[in-house]
Amino acid sequence: MSFRLQPAAPARPNRCQLFGPGSNTKLFAKMAASAADVINLDLEDSVAPTDKDVARSNVIEAINTVDWGNKTLSVRINGLDTPYWYRDVVDLLENASDRLDQIMIPKVGCAADVYAVDALVTAIEAAKGRSKKIAFEVIIESAAGIAHVEEIAASSPRLEAMSLGAADFAASMGMQTTGIGGTQENYYMLRDGTQHWSDPWHWAQAAIVAACRTHGVLPVDGPFGDFSDDEGYRAQSRRSATLGMVGKWAIHPKQIALANEIFTPSEEAVAEAREILAAMEAAKANGEGATVYKGRLVDIASIKQAEVIVHQSEMLAG
Ligand code: COA
Ligand code: MG
Repeated sequence: MSFRLQPAAPARPNRCQLFGPGSNTKLFAKMAASAADVINLDLEDSVAPTDKDVARSNVIEAINTVDWGNKTLSVRINGLDTPYWYRDVVDLLENASDRLDQIMIPKVGCAADVYAVDALVTAIEAAKGRSKKIAFEVIIESAAGIAHVEEIAASSPRLEAMSLGAADFAASMGMQTTGIGGTQENYYMLRDGTQHWSDPWHWAQAAIVAACRTHGVLPVDGPFGDFSDDEGYRAQSRRSATLGMVGKWAIHPKQIALANEIFTPSEEAVAEAREILAAMEAAKANGEGATVYKGRLVDIASIKQAEVIVHQSEMLAG
């Protein structure tokens, strides 16, 4: 480790973030009763411009009246390039109860975007005597966002989570696809006439994970649009989990169980991690820094790898 230690990300479950439009009040009770760890009530792109005002008041009423259990409750505000976002922040901070945990800022392009929202939120918190500090989460979904991902991850002590928004990201990058995440038909390598699919989201995901881990923020995979494709969702989630992401969005209730399944370390993975820790304890007792587990090398780095899995499992269980 460098002299500068890596800060821990918030120790709270974030396996699934369930979205619902703020204009669709019928969904709120269903969202609250779901098995998602995080609820994102949306004021942004799932709400038509003519519904912005009504969605805002629906969401405030729902925050104040629905029983959200122990879920993390977040509202996605409109982007800083719109005329709506300041009213979202002012109305939420002035009228929503302390049950509101988090504001999600979409389309963040630089650290100053987060700074601007932080300044407004901080002023309203002080003016209204709000004792609970609102946390932030951001979406990286533009070329500027990914180019400035590290400064964004470091932008505010309020920042707890960062998601990749595949659809807006693809549009901003000029990618030739209308798919929202997942395998893209034209992104393949050719060998001996056989196509081998590659992952066009990989670079952005890895950049987000590195920025988040450097600054103690939770890295999250965003939406998977084809909610009829369970195996596609699982495959995308497995890749994200392997890269270090802690969870994924659900844009339909079908996707909640899939996210919880993949982002909860399996019993087998936890058992193997515990065996590695035990093998390393035995090695240490013999004065060794490295040993053999199931025919492969394990050493002091393996302890840290195994601890990632065990700690995640314990945090989710407890
Ligand atoms: N949260 C909770 N429940 C939901 C839900 C959600 N996001 N989306 C649908 N449901 C419910 C429906 O109300 C329905 O309930 P019922 O069985 O009691 O009638 C059930 O799940 C099945 O819904 P279905 O008919 O398959 O979907 P739909 O046509 O009603 O809605 C969408 C499809 C995509 C429009 C809807 O899921 C949706 O609005 N998703 C969120 C979109 C969003 O927030 N986007 C922004 C982030 S990318
Ligand atoms: Mg978006």
